[in-house]
Amino acid sequence: MLKGKHIILGISGGIAAYKSVYLLRLFIKAGAEVQVVITPNGKEFITPVTLSALSGKPVISEFFTANSGEWHSHVDLGLWADAMVIAPATASTIAKMANGVADNMLVTTYLSAKAPVFVCPAMDLDMMAHPSTQRNISLLRSYGNHIIDAATGELASHLTGKGRMQEPEEILRQVDETLERLSAETASLTGKRVMITAGPTHEPIDPVRFIGNSSSGKMGVALAREAARRGAEVTLIAGPLSVPAPEHPHIKMLNVTTAREMLDACTHSFPEADIAIMAAAVADYAPAQVADRKIKREENGIERIELVKNPDIAATLCAGKRPDQKVVGFALETDHEHEHAVAKLRRKGLDAIVLNSLRDKGAGFGTDTNKISMIFADGSEQFFPLKSKEEVAADILDAISK
Ligand code: CTP
Repeated sequence: MLKGKHIILGISGGIAAYKSVYLLRLFIKAGAEVQVVITPNGKEFITPVTLSALSGKPVISEFFTANSGEWHSHVDLGLWADAMVIAPATASTIAKMANGVADNMLVTTYLSAKAPVFVCPAMDLDMMAHPSTQRNISLLRSYGNHIIDAATGELASHLTGKGRMQEPEEILRQVDETLERLSAETASLTGKRVMITAGPTHEPIDPVRFIGNSSSGKMGVALAREAARRGAEVTLIAGPLSVPAPEHPHIKMLNVTTAREMLDACTHSFPEADIAIMAAAVADYAPAQVADRKIKREENGIERIELVKNPDIAATLCAGKRPDQKVVGFALETDHEHEHAVAKLRRKGLDAIVLNSLRDKGAGFGTDTNKISMIFADGSEQFFPLKSKEEVAADILDAISK
């Protein structure tokens, strides 16, 4: 897989930089073309001469070559790359990457790179365990970067301690495997139209109050990004999100507020869709009447609000579903999870349902992670470990594309 691939190897200033020489050799042996970009501190640990001899290319460190004034274009480099691997990634480099502090060639190149980025942290235990570093690593992960660390078998965001850099053979293996998987996935939804609902709905009581819930919209947004990455044309029908809206040429956003508006947008889009994923946490009830001015405290108008049931969007779509369309729902449960999820799947007529148990730590609303199982119309069930919402999105799309 690495044969003929263009790899940027970013080296920052840590003791583990000596291992990068070996990593570079492994990439070259695997047939890759490697451009080394090193930070000014990196050069304190390893000499560019060794690196350029092994890679067969001058090592890039400064924005200009000092004597010739030649400008190194981080933009061209970013576009040239099929992958960027930052090893070692020190606490400082990780912090700069997470926050866009582009004061060296490595970080500017990272900011211009369109290819998958692999980050191999290396630092001492205390630095790694510090909340600042942990936060920066989880920011990098939320931007879609791949973290390769030495804490094997654990979710990397729950890293506790192990600060050493992963061994070069293992980095190579993970880069190779990930590129292989990504290229199989890219285009796996080409030509498909995917409709996704996300976030909560807000049901107004008066001009300033509403009934809602604490769904952030993270899961739906992650699904939209992942489906677009796989080549789908995505329509994202979103209630009021508390995360940034995804920006992608193949994601069309439709913003709605209430369940009624969401239903209208869905019934309008659904005939065009091959797959619909209902990740929104739709409010089950809405106030029967919406006051047209703010209800005053003295009026007692707010003590009892008469509610009416909202339409069930998923069930409505399933009732008019063609055989070539698939509808996937979500179930967030606190008890009798499996039973409730199966009942929901049947009642709504879904093809599959993604089950979250609120008893699982790290699952549900507002978190960056999720632990799911999927139940299919034929009664089969698939279980997944705790993962980032981005990885969960990939699992869900894998499962329903089968
Ligand atoms: N859903 C929907 N329209 C609604 C309510 C829910 O489309 N009015 C969808 C959600 O997007 C989700 C699935 O149905 O995919 C299950 O949502 P949930 O609120 O758990 O289901 P309910 O039918 O409301 O069941 P419960 O009694 O547990 O609230």
